[in-house]
This record gives sequence, structure tokens and C-alpha cells, in this order.
Amino acid sequence: MRVSIVFQSTHGNNRSIANHIRNAMVLLGHDVEAHNVHDVTPQEVAGSDLLVFCAPTHIQRAPRKIRSFLRKLAKNGFYGDFALVATRLPDTPRLPRARTLDMMEESLDGSGGRVVGKLELLSEDMRGPLEEGWEEKLDSFLAGVMFEVR
Ligand SMILES: Cc1cc2nc3c(=O)[nH]c(=O)nc-3n(C[C@H](O)[C@H](O)[C@H](O)COP(=O)(O)O)c2cc1C
Repeated sequence: MRVSIVFQSTHGNNRSIANHIRNAMVLLGHDVEAHNVHDVTPQEVAGSDLLVFCAPTHIQRAPRKIRSFLRKLAKNGFYGDFALVATRLPDTPRLPRARTLDMMEESLDGSGGRVVGKLELLSEDMRGPLEEGWEEKLDSFLAGVMFEVR
């Protein structure tokens, strides 16, 4: 299976997540590429069987760059499967719920593809580190995704 991972990352958390996913998928024998969203076009990944997106939360939302990438992909037509991963700070009573994953999914409206999994991982502070046990959470998420893919 051809797997492409597209990540956006300012402080390295989503880059680490993308690397972890790449290593796990390589071990399973898949053909895997990981790209920074700033260095790849939707056309370059449109031939993948599974597309994984990893993005941080900014102002309780999905960053503009990843949303626009997803919208372009949907507009061009993509018929494979999607898995979405987002990072955010832990909930506080002061802030509304982060809509990062929902916004990523909404940006895919109209695409012929199917979202086969969504995962939120927590970041302990603005720049990380990621929550304890994030690798295990990601591994069990990936197992579920692999069960769902066509
Ligand atoms: C400029 C900035 C704004 C952020 N805004 C939010 C936010 O509104 N809500 C939230 O839950 N986390 C917020 N975070 C936390 C990030 O989503 C989180 O730390 C993420 O893991 C960073 O990922 P990265 O290292 O891949 O950039 C913010 C982080 C930064 C640096």
C-alpha cells in the first residue's frame, strides 16, 4: 500500500508523530513518504492509498495551511482513505473546545475519500512535550486505521 503522511509542525511535535507513523508503516512493509505540508503539493500525494495528516491546534483551530491543502485535495478528487491526527493543549474551563480535527474533516468535504480514523494527542505545553504514552496511543490508533483501510 502507498502511504503518504503530510504534517505541519512549528515546534517538532507533529514532525515526531509523522516520523513515528512512517517507521511503523515501514515495519508493516508499506511504501511510505512523509512530507512537510510546506514542501509538497496535493497532486504529489493524490495517488496514495492512505493519506495521514498531522497538525497542531492554533487558536483552537486547524492551521490555515493544512486546511487549504485538504480543500485543494478534495477539490481535485481523492478516492483513497484519510487518517487525521491533531495535537492540542489539555482542556481548560476558560477555552472553548478545540475544533482542529473537525475543521480538518470539514475541509475534506466533497472529496471521494473516506476518513478512517481521527486521533487527538495532547501537548503538555505550547511547544510540547507530547503527553506521556503518546507513542502507544498512536500505535493503537494505527492498528485501528489499518483494520479499516480498503
Ligand atoms: C503559537 C501557538 C499557538 C497555539 N495555540 C493553541 C490553541 O489555541 N489551543 C491548543 O489547544 N493548543 C495550542 N497550541 C499548542 C499546540 O497545538 C501544541 O503544542 C502542538 O503540539 C504543537 O505542535 P508542533 O510542535 O508540531 O508545532 C499552540 C501552540 C503554539 C506554538
